Amino acid sequence: MPSKILVAYATRAGSTRGVAETIGEELRQAGLQVDVYPIKEVSNLSSYQAVIIGSAIRAGSWLPEAKRFVKKNQAYLKTVPVAYFLVCMTLMNDTPENRASVAKYLEPMRQLVPPIAEGDFAGKMDYSKLGIFARFIAKSLVKVPEGDYRNFDLIRQWARTVAAQIKSTTAN
Ligand SMILES: Cc1cc2nc3c(=O)[nH]c(=O)nc-3n(C[C@H](O)[C@H](O)[C@H](O)COP(=O)(O)O)c2cc1C
Repeated sequence: MPSKILVAYATRAGSTRGVAETIGEELRQAGLQVDVYPIKEVSNLSSYQAVIIGSAIRAGSWLPEAKRFVKKNQAYLKTVPVAYFLVCMTLMNDTPENRASVAKYLEPMRQLVPPIAEGDFAGKMDYSKLGIFARFIAKSLVKVPEGDYRNFDLIRQWARTVAAQIKSTTAN
């Protein structure tokens, strides 16, 4: 029986859901059984042999529900392979400097539960999907341009690597 994998994600404007679903598709292609759920809908982890957790970034951090999820479930998560991913706009310019600064976003999560892999992905900015406060910050304060910078080839490539790692650690 193949391992069952959970992909749990946190989003505000929806772009992280697209990333999570793409990861789920790729894991299924690799022969794994996969559930993809918004993190707020996950209550029981006991049927999963590996967990992939991802979140949009706001103000240099995963969304609160994603952080809470890792904290609350850390005991179980330490017993299975865990991978993290993030979706952010800093990587619309994919430079070594920006990668280094984004790598810091996940440090608190690494401290709680060390992952087997991390995926740092560029996201999407669509002002019409934001509430008034977030729109003001993104448009007027930080001046992030609109656009979809998600690189689904890169996301799929990452998911294939993670699938191989999960298969090698859960096979026995
Ligand atoms: C209020 C706000 C704050 C943000 N803060 C950051 C940030 O600190 N660093 C970053 O790289 N991207 C930041 N972003 C960009 C989002 O991470 C990006 O648009 C992402 O794709 C959103 O994911 P979602 O559509 O799943 O909510 C921010 C976006 C908003 C609206």
